[in-house]
Amino acid sequence: MNTVRVLGIETSCDETAAAVVDSEGHVYSDVVASQIAEHAPYGGVVPELAARAHLRSIVPVVEQALAPIEGGLDAIDAIAVTQGPGLVGALIVGVQLAKTLAWARGLPIVGVNHLDGHLLAACMQSDAPRPELPFVALLASGGHTALYRVDAYDDVTMLGQTRDDAAGEAFDKAAKLLGLGYPGGPIIDRLAGEADSRVKFPLPMASKKTLDFSFSGLKTSVARYVERESPSEDELPAICAGFQHSVVSVLARKSVIACQREGLDRLVLCGGVAANRGLRARAKKLADDAGVRLFVPPVRACTDNAAMIAYVGALYARDDRYDENVAVYSRDPQRKRGKFRRDGTLVKRD
Ligand code: KG4
Ligand code: ZN
Repeated sequence: MNTVRVLGIETSCDETAAAVVDSEGHVYSDVVASQIAEHAPYGGVVPELAARAHLRSIVPVVEQALAPIEGGLDAIDAIAVTQGPGLVGALIVGVQLAKTLAWARGLPIVGVNHLDGHLLAACMQSDAPRPELPFVALLASGGHTALYRVDAYDDVTMLGQTRDDAAGEAFDKAAKLLGLGYPGGPIIDRLAGEADSRVKFPLPMASKKTLDFSFSGLKTSVARYVERESPSEDELPAICAGFQHSVVSVLARKSVIACQREGLDRLVLCGGVAANRGLRARAKKLADDAGVRLFVPPVRACTDNAAMIAYVGALYARDDRYDENVAVYSRDPQRKRGKFRRDGTLVKRD
């Protein structure tokens, strides 16, 4: 089968990113310009600021991604761009540039679902072992937290999802409650690693019966604890360790249960929260105990990037599947997702 080389563009949230990747998963370039400093004073992503920052950075970022490619755009077979889910104003910046480049150079274009990018990021070439399909994937990021069965790049079934906050959102909100800054995930991860004790918090929706999650109650427990105890700075590591333990225990446990239910012995962690050391350690332990192999892409491939978008785009392009329209969407259209009951059991897979 032909190998196709694709320029990927990603602007769904607060990273402006471009990359060149081929359908074998070889990464030629991978550029990410973060807007964290822009949003940090507000404690979260401000959509209008994100769109403006993408406008400022997108052209230099794409130029940087093309710089190492001999022949530049002439050596590219297709353009892939994130079409959703994400912030519409932010997505439009990437999609418009992708369409303009495609039109000017006569290149085909393919719209990629951001979540598919995360789900297949582990299949790109890197120092980490690559999983074979099919596998179960836990996608835990700032905007989404769900378990999936991934059979092929275009055959993804959701097995369960959060009923309220995403795991990354819970980390960010807990960090805000503790006065720790933004984004909270990496800060809590670091402080939890320094703790020598752990404040006990509940394990939300720990029941084996459902593969759904819920994190908003846990956030309330942290808020109550802070109100009641007015903890000193010295106690922050123990609070972070307790909060992180609750989140990652439930994530890891349900991921392994999902593998057992699906009869699959490969588990992939992806999305920004997959960078969490506590989650990696807990998932490794439970996976080992259950005879499941754990795959975690390098941190750079876990957080938002364009390499994963270019890669999924290249898989579509290799099969000549293009879409000139590339309409943006803010919410996941649940193409193959959503075929699950609210209790998390699968309805049908076709
Ligand atoms: O995948 P991502 O870069 O963007 C989204 O698509 O949302 O994920 C960002 C989220 C943020 O909520 C951030 O706090 C969280 O991932 N995150 C972490 C860690 N690194 C990033 N959460 C826990 N521990 C980490 N080490
Ligand atoms: Zn993401």
